[in-house]
Amino acid sequence: MQKYRIAIVGVTGLVGQKMLEVLLERQIPISDVLPIASRESAGKTVSFGDEKLKVFPLKENIFEGVDFALFSAGAQISREYAPVAVRQGAVVIDNSSAWRMEPHVPLVVPEVNGHALKTHQGIIANPNCSTIQLVMVLSPLHKRFGVKRVVVSTYQAVSGSGKAAIKQLKDELHQKNPVEKVYPHPIAYNCLPHIDSFEPDGYSREEHKMMQETSKIMEDESLAVTATCVRVPVLNGHSESVNIEFRSPITVEGVRKVLEEVPGVVVLDQPEENIYPLPILCDGKDEVFVGRIRRDPTVENAINLWIVSDNLRKGAATNAVQILQHLINMGG
Ligand SMILES: NC(=O)c1ccc[n+]([C@@H]2O[C@H](COP(=O)([O-])OP(=O)(O)OC[C@H]3O[C@@H](n4cnc5c(N)ncnc54)[C@H](OP(=O)(O)O)[C@@H]3O)[C@@H](O)[C@H]2O)c1
Repeated sequence: MQKYRIAIVGVTGLVGQKMLEVLLERQIPISDVLPIASRESAGKTVSFGDEKLKVFPLKENIFEGVDFALFSAGAQISREYAPVAVRQGAVVIDNSSAWRMEPHVPLVVPEVNGHALKTHQGIIANPNCSTIQLVMVLSPLHKRFGVKRVVVSTYQAVSGSGKAAIKQLKDELHQKNPVEKVYPHPIAYNCLPHIDSFEPDGYSREEHKMMQETSKIMEDESLAVTATCVRVPVLNGHSESVNIEFRSPITVEGVRKVLEEVPGVVVLDQPEENIYPLPILCDGKDEVFVGRIRRDPTVENAINLWIVSDNLRKGAATNAVQILQHLINMGG
C-alpha cells in the first residue's frame, strides 16, 4: 500500500494537535509526519502516538517531498505558504479562511459535496467550523424539502479562537489577569456578539463566512442565509439555533426521519427527558448532533432546531482528514 508524507503547519495549535490524533484514529497510511509551527516552537516535540516528533520552523523549501500539507496556522500563513507548498508538489488542505471563496478552490464537507474535490488545482479549503455543522444538517433537508431561507444564531466556544483564548477564559474564571487578551472584553460570565472583525454592512466576517460558504458548499446561490455569531464562555463545542423555512410542506416527523438517516448526524431529541445536544456531550465526538426540532408557528413550512458539534473535530481536524481520505481514495 502506498504511504504518504504529511506536513502539518500549525502542529502545536489546538487544530494541529487534533489533526495528529485524527490521523492516527483513522489509520491514514503515513510514511512520516512533518510537524511545522512558528520559530518559537522550533525544536520542541509533539506526540504522535508513541512517537515524539521534532517541530520544524516554517520556511520556503520545507515542503519538498511532502504529499499532503494540512494548514492550520491562520489565514496570513496560508495565503503566503499554500502556493509555495503546491509548487513543491504537495496538495494543500487549508483550515483557514484564506482560500475558501476563491472560485477555483473547492470548499468541501465530504458528506455534502465530496465530488467537488475532483476539480482541485492543488489547494482545497476546509470550511468555517460553524458552517460545517450547519450544512451537515441543511444539505439533506434541502435535497428533500428545498430550503428557502435560514436564520442562524451561533453560540461559539472559545476553543474556536485557539489556545490563547482557552487560557484567557480560564484565567478570568480564576480571577487572574490574562497576559494575552484575545477578545476586546472579558469572556468569562459574558457573551460577545463579535467574532472576527466587523464589515461596513454591520455584519462580522464570521457571519459573512457562514452566509457565503453555505451557498458555495450547497451549490445553490438562491439559498438565503442570515447569521448572528456569538462567542460564549464554553471551552469546546459550537451550538447553533437555526430557523429553516422550506419551499415544500414539512412535518416535524418528516424532518426528524430525514436527519436520522444521515451518516455523521445524530438526532438527540427527547426534551421531556432532558435529552438534547450539549457542548459537553459532543466534546471529542466526530458527529453533528441535532435536537429541539419543532415547528415554527409564525411561518408556513418552517422549523426551529438546535445543532451542536465539536468545532476542533468535525469543524476542523476531522473534516480535513476526511478530505485527505477522499483524496487518497481518488488516487491523489
Ligand atoms: N479552533 C477551531 O475551532 C478552528 C476551526 C476551524 C478552523 N480553524 C483555523 O485553524 C487555524 C488554527 O487555529 P487554532 O485554533 O489551532 O489556533 P492556535 O491554537 O492559536 O494555533 C496556532 C498555530 O499556528 C502556528 N503559527 C502561528 N504563527 C506561525 C508562523 N508564523 N509560522 C508557522 N506557524 C505559526 C502556531 O505555532 P506556535 O505554537 O509556534 O505559535 C500554532 O501551531 C486558524 O486559521 C483558524 O481559523 C480553527
